[in-house]
Amino acid sequence: MSKLSGDALEHRLEELLRTGSFPPPPEFAQNALWKDPSVVAQAEADPLAWWEAQADALDWERRWDTVLDWSDPPFAKWFIGGRINASYNCLDRHVEAGLGDRVAFHWVGEEGEARTLTYGWLHQEVQKAANALKALGIGAGDVVGIYLPMIPEVVVAMLACARIGAPHNVVFGGFSAEAVRERMEFSEAKALITVDAARRRGKAAPVKAEVDGHMTSLDRLEHIVVVRNTGTECPMTEGRDVWWDQILAAADPVCPAEGFDAEHPLYVLYTSGSTAKPKGILHTTGGYLTCAAYTHRHVFDLKPEQDVFWCSADVGWVTGHTYIVYGPLMNGATSVMYEGAPDYPHRAIWWELCERFGVTIFYTAPTAIRACMSWGAEEPNKHDLSSLRLLGSVGEPINPKAWLWYQQVIGGGRCPIVDTWWQTETGAIMISPMPGVTAAKPGSAMRPLPGITADVVDNEGNPISEGQGLLVIRRPWPSMLRTLYKDPDRYVETYWNRFGRDVYVVGDAARMDADGDIWILGRIDDVINVSGHRLSTAEVESAIVSYPHVAEAAVVAQSDDLTGQAIVAFVTPEEGLDTDGLDDKIREHIAEVIGKLARPKRIIWTHDLPKTRSGKIMRRLLRDIAEGRELGDVTTLRDPTIMASLTERIAARQHEED
Ligand code: PRX
Repeated sequence: MSKLSGDALEHRLEELLRTGSFPPPPEFAQNALWKDPSVVAQAEADPLAWWEAQADALDWERRWDTVLDWSDPPFAKWFIGGRINASYNCLDRHVEAGLGDRVAFHWVGEEGEARTLTYGWLHQEVQKAANALKALGIGAGDVVGIYLPMIPEVVVAMLACARIGAPHNVVFGGFSAEAVRERMEFSEAKALITVDAARRRGKAAPVKAEVDGHMTSLDRLEHIVVVRNTGTECPMTEGRDVWWDQILAAADPVCPAEGFDAEHPLYVLYTSGSTAKPKGILHTTGGYLTCAAYTHRHVFDLKPEQDVFWCSADVGWVTGHTYIVYGPLMNGATSVMYEGAPDYPHRAIWWELCERFGVTIFYTAPTAIRACMSWGAEEPNKHDLSSLRLLGSVGEPINPKAWLWYQQVIGGGRCPIVDTWWQTETGAIMISPMPGVTAAKPGSAMRPLPGITADVVDNEGNPISEGQGLLVIRRPWPSMLRTLYKDPDRYVETYWNRFGRDVYVVGDAARMDADGDIWILGRIDDVINVSGHRLSTAEVESAIVSYPHVAEAAVVAQSDDLTGQAIVAFVTPEEGLDTDGLDDKIREHIAEVIGKLARPKRIIWTHDLPKTRSGKIMRRLLRDIAEGRELGDVTTLRDPTIMASLTERIAARQHEED
């Protein structure tokens, strides 16, 4: 097929927008792992037997006695009595099977430097790192923070923790040092693994020096381990800080993998909720690994001997945990891992690497696809992408046009697309097309995977056969979060309180269509999804009001062509504060408190916010203003005139930007 661009591409996309659904190409379907839709009924007939069969794909030191204990919902226990080691399943079993030379990662750095990491190499490094952590006094149950860029050591660090039963708490490299401190404090981390500096678009951005100033108040934190990455000098505190290379060199190279209880914590990962305090999602070992391996193999139709898999996420998000580290490694896959941004050093870098490594399965986010669309089909068209056979999307609803562009320009019209819906909380993909079976509709995540039951319900919890409502999951599943770390009450309150203790309320609105296919519409709580990253409005507001002389702030989401949603902040200064030139300072301040990703796209200064007579801020009206919608009911406002002035301000701001 010839490559399309410009008007011809536009024309083709217009044409395809009228096509209802896209069945898998016959050749793909014939060779797919799932060829037959009857697996859904098979799983439904006996879900526990289904999950046992999936768990049996892993190596257990001791097989479980009982599949599930759901006697105290919503606190589930899976594979009770089983003992398993995550790093053994990712590494040792492949090495023992003679696959030590198989490539686990083709790693490419920002400056083009490449490293080939085999299963055998990872196995050696992880054992050394595990022993080095033990020598620092870290043992089973001790939380270890990891704040690293996309370098090979991040994988080694995660698996070393898993090997010795120390739950890791990875913080995305784009978060600020203050956000790291907070997450270390909440999780009572005993050690933090970080880096001297991170490469960012050709420059070395200091990390250890930044982190240092924030860590002094943490009395539980005993050690900071520093990976020498760029060679940037950084302060080291005697007795507390150690170099990664030095402690690995001194470590015993053999660290046998000990089995841990199936319910032993594997990791905690913080995500945003509807309050300013992030939620520590806790995943345990046996169930999480079961779903990570199962979904990675089947949703991506993985044939480990032939495929080259690339998940473009950062390891700091759950997508990276499950589909860069645990899923692919358990399945013995060969993956690509890229350190840099999609447009660095140039806008065709992803496609250059796809061609270079013969990538067959590519998994990314809609926001990245839209960015690529805006750079033009000429960039991917420079490269031979004919090795690709399956594409995936995750993180936010994908608009049909972006879906079709992805399918046509990247997939050459021949690759099925899996639009995978899931969350940090679910641990693994829950709703997705079955690539060899489902006729996918652009924009729909389609149906729950075999073993999962999802429903769209009304406000009373009754299933809706067709129409819009709340997405719920009906049964426990092995990789479900077990609790919120150190906060079981909030766990129950947030997810299981609305329709009873056995219905998981996802927090997303969804539409069930006449065929029974699910279309995710977006969050129903105060969570904004910017480029597929979850941010809490309360967290951003609290960062803004911590700036001197800011009185009040209200943050809402506004639709954005590129990032899905963007942040708009309405901010009230204290009397006498000169707000000229203050926007950038507030943005900088937010970058320091949370991270650059939380900076508002627009800041609107106002002497007051729309409030009810009892003083509650009416965010609903602010959302209407931000979206340029007709205003809802304003009669309950204390000062209805405020709306006119805000509408004017946002219009003026948009005008200035145009
Ligand atoms: O709103 C949904 C959206 O992302 C939320 C979960 O965010 P997070 O925990 O950060 O995990 C993101 C990666 C798994 C969901 O509640 N979301 C995720 N995938 C999709 C999606 N929205 C629509 N379609 C998807 N495929």
